[in-house]
Amino acid sequence: MTFTLKNNELHAENVALSKIAAEFNTPCYVYSKSALTQAFKSFEAGLIGANHLVCFAVKANPNIAILNLFAKLGAGFDIVSGGELARVLAAGGDPKKIVFSGVGKTADEMRDALNAGILCFNIESINELARLNDVASALGKVAPISLRVNPNVDAKTHPYISTGLKNNKFGVAFEDAIALYEKAASMHNIAVHGVDCHIGSQITELSPFLDALDKVLGLVDSLAEKSIVIEHIDVGGGVGITYSDETPPDFKTYTQAILQKLNGRNVKVLFEPGRALVGNAGVLLTRVEYLKPGESKNFCIVDAAMNDLMRPALYDAYHEIVAVKPRTGSAKVYEIVGPVCESGDFLGHDRALNLQEDDLLAIKSAGAYGMSMASNYNTRGRAAEIMVDSDKVHLIREREHITDLFLLEKIPE
Ligand code: LLP
Repeated sequence: MTFTLKNNELHAENVALSKIAAEFNTPCYVYSKSALTQAFKSFEAGLIGANHLVCFAVKANPNIAILNLFAKLGAGFDIVSGGELARVLAAGGDPKKIVFSGVGKTADEMRDALNAGILCFNIESINELARLNDVASALGKVAPISLRVNPNVDAKTHPYISTGLKNNKFGVAFEDAIALYEKAASMHNIAVHGVDCHIGSQITELSPFLDALDKVLGLVDSLAEKSIVIEHIDVGGGVGITYSDETPPDFKTYTQAILQKLNGRNVKVLFEPGRALVGNAGVLLTRVEYLKPGESKNFCIVDAAMNDLMRPALYDAYHEIVAVKPRTGSAKVYEIVGPVCESGDFLGHDRALNLQEDDLLAIKSAGAYGMSMASNYNTRGRAAEIMVDSDKVHLIREREHITDLFLLEKIPE
């Protein structure tokens, strides 16, 4: 396995995490190349022989070394901004394997994506469709589109990361989809290619995916009656991972269940997994600065904070926290917190650990939506990122220098 104890010390593949901390300092994100590769390959394994494309959702982890790795493995990419488009291209991703999601695409972003020649725009509103038609017309191009439909299915996940319900800002209402497809089909600079659906993230049950797909297939059939042919179905992302005791469907069960529903149909299937490909392939490595006993709680103040890993503060998300060199003897219960001036700056509640100051901790399952949501709050430079490949250690993003953080600021004359 990729993050394991060897000689009572946590390693990333064959490299001791204390060695990484000594060389690159903390906090830093450490990814395992083999875990990333294995995740992608095992997602693909259930799809052999099927007409498909796996588009990694860049927002989960946009480091260009990781995008480059997935590109070399044959991945496509799901992007949500011009910035992500530029990253994918810089990483050597194939523009013909890019789908562009998101509710607020600007005209400039549309232009860049059309010029790059992406596979498909996932359109989320009538006004966006009209704008894309105008932009494509000005460029003398035809824009390939899917409509992202909102199937009104409950993904049974955290409300902040649930997107498939009626009251979400995402997608077009299911009832409006046919009329909108007819409109799209009549536009000169729009070509209808597919239908798209993404119902949320960290979904741990199969049924919401299948319920959503049933609705999408009903739509595909209704469109066929109107001679609107759907070439691809994009089933979105959202497959959950195990942070503590969740039991999400494994990739094979998930992909096979989807393929089974598509059986006999002449369509290509697109997937947009993010978290499932990277989440458990990374840890956030941090050092204990202070142990601070309190009246009702003991605090363990580490050098990582909510600006490095926002998920606990934002979603009350659980990440397992382990000592890099576990000590024997009795543990104490700690609040694991960062140095940021907010009570919400915690990384874990009530963790039983036997700790001393200067110890290293690994915050697990931090490969997805960790670094990608990091900020400079409290003028903290963002962490370094490291990729381990067997016994080799690659720095894939330098720690941010403090002076870089105010480089773009100006004192008025
Ligand atoms: N496709 C679309 C259109 C999306 O909006 C997302 C995620 C994905 C694919 C990938 O979903 P995944 O396979 O990673 O579940 N920051 C939150 C997660 C937000 C997800 C946003 N959209 C978190 O840390 O849990």
